[in-house]
Amino acid sequence: MALPVIVDCDPGHDDMVALLLAGRHADLLAVTTVAGNAPLERSTYNALLAIQLFNFTAHVHPGADRPLTAKSGFATGLHGASGLDGPVLPPLHLSPSPRSAVEAILETTRQVDGCWLIGTGPLTNIALSLRADPTLLDRIAGISIMGGGLSFGNVTAGAEFNLWVDPEAAAIVIHSGAPLIISPLDVTHQLMVTPRFADQVRALDSSIASFMADLFRVFAERYRDVFFDEAIGPLHDPCAVLAVTHPELFEFREMAITVVTGHGPGRGLMLADRRASKLDEPINAKVAVRIDADAALDLVLRAIESIP
Ligand code: BDR
Ligand code: CA
Repeated sequence: MALPVIVDCDPGHDDMVALLLAGRHADLLAVTTVAGNAPLERSTYNALLAIQLFNFTAHVHPGADRPLTAKSGFATGLHGASGLDGPVLPPLHLSPSPRSAVEAILETTRQVDGCWLIGTGPLTNIALSLRADPTLLDRIAGISIMGGGLSFGNVTAGAEFNLWVDPEAAAIVIHSGAPLIISPLDVTHQLMVTPRFADQVRALDSSIASFMADLFRVFAERYRDVFFDEAIGPLHDPCAVLAVTHPELFEFREMAITVVTGHGPGRGLMLADRRASKLDEPINAKVAVRIDADAALDLVLRAIESIP
C-alpha cells in the first residue's frame, strides 16, 4: 500500500519532480504551497499546473505568503520570475482549494493516520500547523524535508535556501520531536540533471516529456550560470520524497541538528553536532548523506514515461 503523503512545496523546477514522484510512488493526499522560489500566487499556480499536467487528483491549498518573522526572499536567479522558466506553460484549468494549507494539513491528518509531511520549500506552513495543533505530531508518521547543508550553503556560504528563508519555522519543525528525515545539499548535489538527461527525457516523445525536458535543460543551464562551471542542476526536492518512498536508495546518518535563527550572518545555518554521541545530545534527525543517483534518475525517467 502506498504511503499517504502531503507535499508542502514552492514549485520550482525540482519541486515539480518531487510532486511527480509523490503522485507516482505515494498516496498524494494534498499539496500545500508556500512562498519560496517565487511568491505564493506563483507557487500555487505552478503546483496546480503540476497536478493538471500529471493527471493527479490531489487538491492544492495555498499557505503562507511570507516567512514567520521576515520578508520573503525569492530564488528568481535559478527558477525565473515564473518559478518555472523554460517550457511554454500551458493554460491552467484548475483552481486552488478554498481550504488553507494549515487547514488541509490538520484535517487530512485527522482523516488519515500515519501521513508523511514532505517539505520541499520554506517550512512556514508545517511550523504553523504544528503551532496551531501540537497533537498533529501524534497523527503523522514523520516529516521529510529538503533543507540545509552539512558542508556548504547555496544562499550564503553555509546556509541553504529553504532554511535561510524561514529559519524560525525550520527550528520549530526540527525541534518538534517528529521523526525527521533531512535531505541536505550534500546529498541533493549528488542527484544532477544534465542536458544529456534532458535529451533522454525528450526522447520519451510525449508532450509531458518535452515539458520536463525543457524544465531540466533550463534548470541545468541556470545552475551553470550562477553556481557551477557546467550545466548540472541538482534535483534537491525529489530527494525528500524518495527518502520516504525509496529509503533503500539512501545512506542515512543519525544526527543532532539545530538551525541558526535571527537575522545575523549565520541566519539559516544548519548545524550538525558531530559530538552528539559523546555529549548525549538528543539525536533528532536521520540525515541523508548518499543517494544512488542512477537509480533515482531512472525513477524520474520512468515516472515521466508513465504520464499518458
Ligand atoms: C531548495 O531551494 C529551492 O531553490 C529548491 O526548490 C529547493 O527546494 C534548494 O536550496
Ligand atoms: Ca523547493
